[in-house]
Amino acid sequence: MPLNNIMTEKFLRSAYGGESMAHMRYLIWGEIAEKENLPNIARLFRAIAYAEWAHANNQFRELKDKKGSFSVSAGAVFVVGKTVENLQGAIDGELHEAQQLYPVYLQTARFQNEKGAERAFHFALEAEKIHARLFQEAKTAAEQGKDMELGTVYVCPICGHTHVGTIPGKCPVCGVTEDKYKTFPA
Ligand SMILES: [Fe+2]
Ligand SMILES: [Fe+2]
Repeated sequence: MPLNNIMTEKFLRSAYGGESMAHMRYLIWGEIAEKENLPNIARLFRAIAYAEWAHANNQFRELKDKKGSFSVSAGAVFVVGKTVENLQGAIDGELHEAQQLYPVYLQTARFQNEKGAERAFHFALEAEKIHARLFQEAKTAAEQGKDMELGTVYVCPICGHTHVGTIPGKCPVCGVTEDKYKTFPA
């Protein structure tokens, strides 16, 4: 279904920009965590970077009928510090997305009856809540000078749902079967 409403279209483009930057930022912060000898926190950053890729992928594809070049403004956290500081940046970004950005984008898409965008924003909103919590756990450990305890991380390639421990039978958000999950082993 083509997009019919400029407001949803703009929000998709901005969300795509935000997710693209989050993806890159987490890879960079993962490298820093690796150098600080925090391999589990580094792995969490890489797993969540993959989830942000899934969100960007959905949003980009929803814009497929709107070809062209655009200047995209998008919110993004900028900090390069020690892992504790970087994790605070990650928490701030995820909470902003979970509490402000995606609830507004989702309601807009719903109001404008843009089904594809609604799906993409719903997927992102559900994952960002989990990401905020996981980054908070990581920061609590890092503040004590320790790596976090972290089992295998499973990330849904469709919606970015992020799960630690045992693999869910199917994705609780989008319903994809467990064999599709991308695995970041402990
Ligand atoms: Fe996230
Ligand atoms: Fe999913």
